[in-house]
Amino acid sequence: MPKAAPLPWPQLLPSTLPTPCFVVDEERLLANLRVLETVQQRTGAKILLALKGFAMFSTFGLLRQVLHGACASSPHEARLAREEFGKEVHAFAAAYSEADMAELVELADHIVFNSFAAWHQFAPMVQAARQRGRTIECGLRINPEHSEGAVSIYNPCAPGSRLGIRRAAFAGQRLEGIDGLHFHTLCEQDAAPLARTLEVVERNFGEFFHTLKWLNFGGGHHITRPGYDLDLLCQCITRVQERYGLQVYLEPGEAVALNTGVLVSTVLDVVDADMPIVLLDTSAPAHMPDVLEMPYRPEVVNASLPGERAWTCRLAGKSCLAGDVIGEYSFDTPLNMGDTLIFLDMAHYSMVKTTTFNGLGLPAIALAEQGTHALRMVRQFGYEDFKMRLS
Ligand SMILES: Cc1ncc(COP(=O)(O)O)c(C=O)c1O
Repeated sequence: MPKAAPLPWPQLLPSTLPTPCFVVDEERLLANLRVLETVQQRTGAKILLALKGFAMFSTFGLLRQVLHGACASSPHEARLAREEFGKEVHAFAAAYSEADMAELVELADHIVFNSFAAWHQFAPMVQAARQRGRTIECGLRINPEHSEGAVSIYNPCAPGSRLGIRRAAFAGQRLEGIDGLHFHTLCEQDAAPLARTLEVVERNFGEFFHTLKWLNFGGGHHITRPGYDLDLLCQCITRVQERYGLQVYLEPGEAVALNTGVLVSTVLDVVDADMPIVLLDTSAPAHMPDVLEMPYRPEVVNASLPGERAWTCRLAGKSCLAGDVIGEYSFDTPLNMGDTLIFLDMAHYSMVKTTTFNGLGLPAIALAEQGTHALRMVRQFGYEDFKMRLS
C-alpha cells in the first residue's frame, strides 16, 4: 500500500466546513490497513470489517483492497456488505427470525448461529438455498466462559450472557454440517487477553476442531493501536492454523477505523453555571452516544484535562437532556461563539449509532482523500432523514 504521512486535523479541515460533520481521512485508514495487511501476510488469516463498528461505505473501495469481506449483524448490514463491499459476507446475530434467515441465505457466505436450536431450525433453509446454487458455510458461536473485560456490558462472557454456546451445551450434540466455530470475547484489547482466551477455547473446544474448516476470533482486537503486540497476535493465529489446519478469521470493527476520523463541531453559546458551559451544535446522546453509554471522555484537539490549561469549561450538547454533557476540558484561551472544536477518534461506532433525538440534524459525512488531502462532502442530512423514521 502507498505510504504518505497524514496531515494534522486542523490543516485538513476548511473553515467553511458545515458542522456538525464527521470527517474521515483516507490516509489514516490506509495506515491502519497497512497494519492489518501485515497480519494477513504474516499468517494467512483473513480479516473482515465488522460493519456494526464502521459502515461508511464510501471508503469500502479502499478497504476492499486489503480486507477479505465484511461481517454483518443483520440482513440490512449483510445487504450493505453484498452491495457495497463484495467479497465474503459473514453474518452473526444472537437470534434470527424466519424473515431474517430468508434474506441472509441469499446474501451471506457464512452464517453463525447462537444456539443448537437455531442451527437445527434454519439448517433446512440453508440446505434449500444451497440447492438453488448458493454456497453457504455454517458456524456456531461459542462462549468460552473466560472473561477478560472489566466492563460487564461489553463482556460477552459475563454471568447470564446470552451470547455464545457454552461447553456443557455441546454434550450429545452432533456437529455434522458445521464448518466453523466463532468466539467474540474481547473489547479494545491487546493480544495477551486473546492468547489467554485461546488457551481456554482450545482446552474446552479443541476436540471439535478436527472436523472444522475455520475458527473466527471475532472482534475487539485493538490491532492498529500503537504498541499492540502484533507478534503475539500472529503467534496465536499461526499456532491454531498449523496445529489444526483451520483458517483463522478476525472481524474487527474499531481497529479498522481507529483514529481515522473526527467529529467537527461549532460553539453556539457560552453560559455560566458554576463554571463556563460551552454549548455546541452537536450532542452526546444524538451524535456520540458512547460518551454516555460506555461512558468515556473523547479527546479534543488543543484541549487538556480540567485545570491543565488556563481556562476550564464543560462541553455540552444542545439537546434537552440535562445529562447531554461531553465532559470537562481546559483550553489556553476562553472559547467563543463560532469557534470550531474537533473531537478525535469518532469514525467508529459514533457514526453508526447517531440518532435524530430532539429532531437534531445528523452530522454530515466528509472524506479527506488520499494523496491530495482534498475534502469531499459525501453526505449531508436534512429534515427528510428525521421524518422518514416516523409516521
Ligand atoms: C460478533 C462481533 N464481531 C465483531 C465485533 C467488532 O468488535 P470491535 O469493533 O470491538 O472490533 C463485535 C462487536 O461487538 C461483535 O459483537
